[in-house]
Amino acid sequence: MSILPNQGYGKVTVPDLVQRKSLSAANSANKKITCLTAYDYPSARLMDEAGVDVVLVGDSVAMVELGYDSTLPLTLDEALHHTKAVRRGVKRALVVADMPYGSYHGDINEAIRNAMRFVKEAGAEAVKLEGGERRLELIERLTEAEIPVMGHVGLTPQSVNALGGYRVQGKTPGTAEQLLRDARAVEAAGAFAIVLEAIPRELAAEITQAVRVPTIGIGAGPDCDGQILVLHDMLGLTFQDAPKFARRYANVGEIISSAVREYRADVQDGKFPSDAESYHAPVSAKGRKTIPIAR
Ligand code: KIV
Repeated sequence: MSILPNQGYGKVTVPDLVQRKSLSAANSANKKITCLTAYDYPSARLMDEAGVDVVLVGDSVAMVELGYDSTLPLTLDEALHHTKAVRRGVKRALVVADMPYGSYHGDINEAIRNAMRFVKEAGAEAVKLEGGERRLELIERLTEAEIPVMGHVGLTPQSVNALGGYRVQGKTPGTAEQLLRDARAVEAAGAFAIVLEAIPRELAAEITQAVRVPTIGIGAGPDCDGQILVLHDMLGLTFQDAPKFARRYANVGEIISSAVREYRADVQDGKFPSDAESYHAPVSAKGRKTIPIAR
C-alpha cells in the first residue's frame, strides 16, 4: 500500500471523534461535537461548508421529507438514494447513514450485507442503528467487518409501536438502569459513538461519564459530548409542533411560503418575467427561426 499523504483539510474521521472525547477530559477548550441530519445534496453541502462534524442521513427523512407518519415505512433503497445525494455534497464531515427499520432486524448476515451497501454503493463512512443490549452481536460483527457503528438508545423511534408512542425514556430507576446497561453494551460491542434521545439530562450526564465513546444528545440535555438536531426542526420546515428540545434557528417554511406567494402574484399580474429577464433576438438574426440561447 502506498503511504497516504496527510489529508490536511480537517477531514473528520471516526478516530478523531473518539479522541476528541478523551482530549476534552484533559482540556475543556475542546469543543463539543456538532451533528445535523441531511437528506439531499444542497443541505448536506451547506452544512459541510458551515463546519458541522457529522452529517447523519437520518431515517427521519421518512417523516420530514417523504411525509410518512413514522420512520417505519422507509425502505433500504430510499435510504441509499438519500445517502448518495448527501455523500456528493460532503467533503469534510463524517457521513453516517441510518439503517432503516427492517434492514437489520432479521438475519444478521443480511443486516451486514445491507450495512455494506451503505458503504460500498452510497459512500457512507459509518452506519447508525437503534437499540441497546439486543444489538450487541450485530454491532460486534459490523465492527469486525470494518463498518464503524453509531449506537442509538433512549427513545428509539423505530420502536414506536413497542414503546406505545414517542415518550421520554428512562424516567424510573429501573428504566434508567437499563439504559445505562444498553449504552455500556453498545460501547463494549465496538460502537464509536452513541446517540442518546429523549432521556433526562441527569441520566444522559451519567451515561456520558460512564462510557469512553462520545455521546450525542437529542433531547438529552447539554452534558453530552455532542448534539444533533433534525434539520427540518431547526429550520422551521415541519408541519407539526416540534418537541421542546428542538430549538428553531430559522423559519425557512415562512420564507418559502412568502417567496412562492410573491412569485404567484407576479406571474398573475404580468410582472414576471420582465423584459430584462427575457432573451432578445439579435438584430442581425431577426427573422431566423432559431435563436442561439446564452445564459
Ligand atoms: O433519524 C434521525 O434523524 C435520527 C436522529 C434523531 C438522531 O435518528
